[in-house]
Amino acid sequence: MNWKNLGRTKPIDMILQEAETHTTHNPEMNAVETGMKRTLGVWDLTAMGIAAVIGAGIFSTVGTAAAQGGPGVVFLFIFTAIACAFSAFCYAEFASAIPVAGSAYTYAYASLGELLAWIIGWDLLMEYAIGNIAVAISWADYFTTLLDGYGIHIPRYLTMDLLTASRGFGAVQENLVKGLSMADMTAKGLVTSAQVDAYSAWLNAPHLMGIPLVMNLPALGVVILVSWVVYIGIQESKRVSNFMVILKLIVLALVIAVGAFYVKPANWSPFAPHGVTGILKGVSAVFFAYIGFDAISTTAEECKNPQRDLPRAMVYSLVICTVLYILVSLVLTGIVNSEHLAVGDPLAYVFGKDGANVNWISGIIAVSAVIAMFTVLLVFQLGQPRIWMVMSRDGLLPKIFSAIHPKYKTPWFSTIVAGVLVAVPSLFMNLTEVTDLSSIGTLCAFVLVCAGVLRFDPHRPKVPGRFYTPYINGKYLFPALVLIAGILLLKFNGDGVSDYFSAKGDFKEKIPLAGFLLGIVYLCWLTFKRSFSLIPLLGLTSCAYLMTELGWTNWARFGIWLVVGLVIYFLYSYQHSKLSGAEGVKS
Ligand code: ALA
Repeated sequence: MNWKNLGRTKPIDMILQEAETHTTHNPEMNAVETGMKRTLGVWDLTAMGIAAVIGAGIFSTVGTAAAQGGPGVVFLFIFTAIACAFSAFCYAEFASAIPVAGSAYTYAYASLGELLAWIIGWDLLMEYAIGNIAVAISWADYFTTLLDGYGIHIPRYLTMDLLTASRGFGAVQENLVKGLSMADMTAKGLVTSAQVDAYSAWLNAPHLMGIPLVMNLPALGVVILVSWVVYIGIQESKRVSNFMVILKLIVLALVIAVGAFYVKPANWSPFAPHGVTGILKGVSAVFFAYIGFDAISTTAEECKNPQRDLPRAMVYSLVICTVLYILVSLVLTGIVNSEHLAVGDPLAYVFGKDGANVNWISGIIAVSAVIAMFTVLLVFQLGQPRIWMVMSRDGLLPKIFSAIHPKYKTPWFSTIVAGVLVAVPSLFMNLTEVTDLSSIGTLCAFVLVCAGVLRFDPHRPKVPGRFYTPYINGKYLFPALVLIAGILLLKFNGDGVSDYFSAKGDFKEKIPLAGFLLGIVYLCWLTFKRSFSLIPLLGLTSCAYLMTELGWTNWARFGIWLVVGLVIYFLYSYQHSKLSGAEGVKS
């Protein structure tokens, strides 16, 4: 094996040319036809971005983040949006230069080399497939509650994962052993109603060889349905997605407009009851809420004018979602005391009897959550197979992954595999675990995409009509900004900083931040030497910082995930890479 091959990059011209060999040229559109249909315009793409972004995050995981951080969680929404915006510029530059379906994977192949490209491709599985498991689980929660509201009750053991059921069983059992009745323990707040549900699920489930058969059937069902829509074609997916996005935007606007009348400004004081540390506990949940704007780049081969429309659509969808998130989080934390928001359905909760008591809005929110999350599932199930399709064209995955259905013009095999990979685990897996994994994986992809843009010479000749990240020389600015950030951190979170450098706390938990700090010093030095562009630098730094907030356990799981990916790479992909037989460019 030649170690230098791991850094071989694929020239952009070669990527575009190859896309063409899978295609026929269409002179009317002055575009490459890839055997897939080019039907998407800028508003379709923006709608897809919104479809992918607004989902389980704002309807579900934001509750816990707000409970931990208080109204100050809004700062996290703003900071995360800025980090995403820097990355969006980098995504947009790549999407415009390399309008093929592989998204960050293809961009890394052109800029960082094959091994890092593989790592990103493998990593994107966490964003798309694992993220979708989380969304399917949240969807099933809302769906079950909605059916309950109509008097249709699915047995509890068919609506949750085994871990949730066993934890709930354990919590209730512990109190039963102490002699407390079920009514007592709920009245005293020792267990939540969700834990009581989990307890009954565990008890009532049929058993197979002593193991209770607890599973999340609605989650499985929705993934099968979505996979079918994606399988039969992009045109159908587009129609479904556009319709649902309009509906969910109207409903969110309604929530903000009506909610504003029930805000009690007293609930915003104190604004950050648990300080910066409390706010930062919500990183995973808040970042998860933004995941998805990048997913539209996977439809590059189905866009009418990808070079112009993809960058615009990414920015439009990010701006629209950020405004909505800021307003929704202010309304949420303004209607009730944020400590009460640690529920699975915070938006419905604040309009329920413990909040504004406007029950018709609660009902609308429950319906819209089900719709909102369906669109997220749709876009991610659409994105995953397209990344595999491109990886397969490069030889890193078997050929069948790029097979296009003769009638529906979709990558049919990859679509089925993605469906199975999401559907089966969503039967059994736990929400928090999958949310965290998805966030850390996506942040890593963002970091690598920003690093990819740094590799380009900012002064290279520009191609008219293409999008470029505006160049601001970071030579002095970046180190100066790092210094200012350090001073602000000391001023506003001095206790956190001294705790970090003291012997207090778990040493393992300090490792990611230590790595980050060392990396920043190195990056300042490199930037000083090479005059790197400021925007990708800030994207890389802010996303890497958010990763450090995700805790040691997530880092460990992420590490294992990467090791498995590397084993597959060396056993299969390295040997089958098309660049092995072609003139790969050594970087
Ligand atoms: N951003 C997507 C959601 O919140 C993943 O569901």
